Amino acid sequence: MYVADQSRYNKMKYNYCGNSGLQLPAISLGLWHNFGGVDTLENSRAMLFKAFDLGITHFDLANNYGPPPGSAEETFGKILKQDLFSYRDELIISSKAGYLMWPGPYGDFGSRKYLVSSLDQSLKRMGIDYVDIFYHHRPDPNTPLEETMQTLADIVSSGKALYIGISNYPAELTRKAEEIINSLGRHLLIHQPKYSMFERWVEDELLDVLKSEGIGSIAFSPLAQGMLTDKYLNGIPSGSRAAKATGFLQPEALTDEKINKIKKLNELAKSRGQKLSQMAITWILRHETITSVLIGASNVEQIEDAASALEAPRLSDDELIKIETILF
Ligand SMILES: NC(=O)c1ccc[n+]([C@@H]2O[C@H](COP(=O)([O-])OP(=O)(O)OC[C@H]3O[C@@H](n4cnc5c(N)ncnc54)[C@H](OP(=O)(O)O)[C@@H]3O)[C@@H](O)[C@H]2O)c1
Repeated sequence: MYVADQSRYNKMKYNYCGNSGLQLPAISLGLWHNFGGVDTLENSRAMLFKAFDLGITHFDLANNYGPPPGSAEETFGKILKQDLFSYRDELIISSKAGYLMWPGPYGDFGSRKYLVSSLDQSLKRMGIDYVDIFYHHRPDPNTPLEETMQTLADIVSSGKALYIGISNYPAELTRKAEEIINSLGRHLLIHQPKYSMFERWVEDELLDVLKSEGIGSIAFSPLAQGMLTDKYLNGIPSGSRAAKATGFLQPEALTDEKINKIKKLNELAKSRGQKLSQMAITWILRHETITSVLIGASNVEQIEDAASALEAPRLSDDELIKIETILF
């Protein structure tokens, strides 16, 4: 029987999520890859245990994570029931709906019909009564924002989610969403954008909006799906995400120009006594507005590596300039 490490809360840093009372670990674990029906249950279980032992209390899911879609929630539900249920009140579990989940007009985007049914399905797959955070996964150009936001607010009133999040919303739409949610007496807890050294759109406007509105943020794909590590320095290793048929990272993304930058970043990380994967996390956490860094992992060691990033000193001005020069 799994018993969590007694010292887990001494190992992690927790940050308040925007102006809410909810604290999230500086590192959170996402179950997009490596927790599906095609993956090994024992490895998924070992990764969840390791994460929780390191003080990672937040696990991020979505209706469509797998493959097949839905199977990551099933895996999580199985492990939760067997091993982690006594810790339910120590966990922040999130799910999302917004991408295609089932055929027909009610299984995609942002209608009330889709969001409510999808959350019910997610709760069933995970075997829980409520999620801590429920996200609208991406903006819907055709459903009125009022309908989507009203639905999220109602879901909180129904007790099926404690907090509301949005993901992949641009800055202005985020401001509008928060305005609508506020008018309904609720607050947007969190925004989940893609953010890494290779994907910096949030820096233009979004981070300012989040700060001024008191909304927290959790940066996804902080390692650019593994590119910001030492993994691809000498080609594409078998078993890596870029090599897997079920992996979302396309080998074409690893251009010579990118590899060149990765090599230079890797040298800089070494000069700081860090791995590149760790420096990529330190770099994101330089922003006060970022509540948590949402990593993915395919094994236990990668989770340990990420957690150790928190022990490193902040990046100096000189190092930040060097990173800008490499990335330019
Ligand atoms: N809201 C959204 O639209 C959205 C979209 C995507 C993701 N997300 C969330 O963000 C989470 C993380 O995304 P992600 O998995 O793309 O994050 P990531 O942290 O950028 O990439 C994780 C992958 O990098 C590799 N890796 C990690 N640590 C490593 C290390 N120390 N050395 C070498 N390789 C390492 C592993 O791939 P290998 O398999 O190659 O080992 C791992 O699966 C997802 O699980 C999901 O919860 C949200």
